[in-house]
Amino acid sequence: MEVLVPSEQSITGQSVPDASMKEISFYHASEGKSLATPWQVAMTRADYVAQFDIPSGMVLDCACGSGIQLAAYASRLKRSALGVELDRDRAVASCLNLNTIANRFSTFGQGWHRRSLVLAADGTASDEIASLAGLEHNSVSLLMLDPARPRNSRTHGLDEMQPNLSSVFEAWKPYLASTSKGPCIVLDLSPRLTQELRDGVESIVESFWPGIGKTWTWMSRGGGRVDRLELWLGGVATPNVGKRFVRLSRTFGGEDTIIEQHEAIQQIRSELQPARRNEWVTILDAALVESGLVDIWLGEQLSNIADIRWAESSPRRPRIHHNGPLKDDAHPFVVASGRVVDILDLPLDEVNIDTIVAAALENDISALTIRCGLDAALQPRLQGSIDRQLRNRQGRRKAFLTRHTSSNRLLLCVQYPQNSDT
Ligand SMILES: C[S@@+](CC[C@H](N)C(=O)[O-])C[C@H]1O[C@@H](n2cnc3c(N)ncnc32)[C@H](O)[C@@H]1O
Repeated sequence: MEVLVPSEQSITGQSVPDASMKEISFYHASEGKSLATPWQVAMTRADYVAQFDIPSGMVLDCACGSGIQLAAYASRLKRSALGVELDRDRAVASCLNLNTIANRFSTFGQGWHRRSLVLAADGTASDEIASLAGLEHNSVSLLMLDPARPRNSRTHGLDEMQPNLSSVFEAWKPYLASTSKGPCIVLDLSPRLTQELRDGVESIVESFWPGIGKTWTWMSRGGGRVDRLELWLGGVATPNVGKRFVRLSRTFGGEDTIIEQHEAIQQIRSELQPARRNEWVTILDAALVESGLVDIWLGEQLSNIADIRWAESSPRRPRIHHNGPLKDDAHPFVVASGRVVDILDLPLDEVNIDTIVAAALENDISALTIRCGLDAALQPRLQGSIDRQLRNRQGRRKAFLTRHTSSNRLLLCVQYPQNSDT
C-alpha cells in the first residue's frame, strides 16, 4: 500500500483530450481510458450531488481508476478527495487528473486539493487506508463506487464487480458520515443490469442500511442507448423519487432533459391493431423505454394515453401507434414521429424499391428514411437507392418507413413540421 500526494506527482505519459470536452485533457494508465467517466457525465453528477446537504468530510472513491469522477465531486463539493486504486499507474494518473482539475478551478495546493490523497491499494482495506490517510469513523461525506467489470460479460452478474458491493459496504460502513437520511452513496453500475440484478443490488444495500432511500438513475447521451446506470442512496437519493432518466444535452453545459417517477404508475399496455391510415406512429428513445419511465413522459405528450398501442418491435426501436400528434415531436426522446399516409403490402427488398419510391412521390415526399430492422448489408443499399431516386424530384415532405409488426405491411409515415395541420 502506498500513499500518493497529488501535488507531489510529476507528470508521466501524455494526456489525451476528454471524449465530451476537447479543451480538457486527462491522463490514463494501464488502458484506463476506456473505463474513465467522460467529464460531462462526471460534472452532471457532481452538480446533482451539490444540491444535497452533504456532511463534511472526504469524498471517497474506492476504485477510482483515472480519478475523473472523483475530481468532479471533490472540486464541485469543495471536499478533499480520497482515491483508492489497485493499479499503481492508474493511481498516479488519478493524482495528475486531480491536479488538472485543481488548476482548472484555480485551487491547486489550496482548499480541497491541499488535503487530497490517492492510495495505491485494495479499496476494501479500509482500516489500513484510514490509518494512513488519517481518516476517522463517520468522516466520509460521500462514498462512490464504479467497480471494474469483465469486458465481455454476458451476465453482468453482481459477483463480477471488482471490488464487490458487499465487501466495500462492510469495509467502509463505520467510516461513512450519516445524515438524517443515512449515508451518502453513489453506485455507478453496469447499464445492462436487468430488473432481477437491480433487485439483487437493492437487497445487498438493504442488508446494510434497511429502509434507506434509493433513486435509480439512467443516463443516455442519445441514440437509444443507456450509457450509465446509477443508484443514489441515502443522503443523495431524491425523496419519493424511485427512478430518474437523464438525457444528456448534446453539448457540454447545454440543458439536460430529465424525467422522474414520483410514485409507482402501472400502465396497462394495449396491443397493436390492424394497420390504419391516418394513425400516428412514433419511434421512441430505447433508453427511455428501458428505464420504465416512458409512460410518465407519454402522459405529458398525448392528451389520451389510453389510446396508445404498443408494437412488439425490437428493443432497439420501440414504437407506439396513437390517434393524435405528440405535443412536441422534436423532443429529444423522439426518434421519429409521423402520420401513416400509405400502407404497402410488400416485402422491403430491392425488387420492390421502385414501387416504394413511387408511393413516396405520390405522397409529396422528398426524403424517406428506413426505420425498420433490416439486414446490415441490405439497409445501406436500399436507403441509397431511395435517396438517389428521390433526389431532384419535386416532393416537399419528410417521411419514414416502418413495418407494422403483426401484419408485416410497410407503413409510410409523413413527419409533419411542428404546429402544422397540413
Ligand atoms: C471502472 S474503473 C473506475 C473509473 C473511474 N470512475 C474514472 O472516472 O476514471 C474501476 C477501477 O477499479 C479498479 N479496481 C478493481 N478492483 C479494485 C480493488 N479491489 N480495489 C481498488 N481498485 C480496484 C480497477 O483497477 C479499475 O481501475
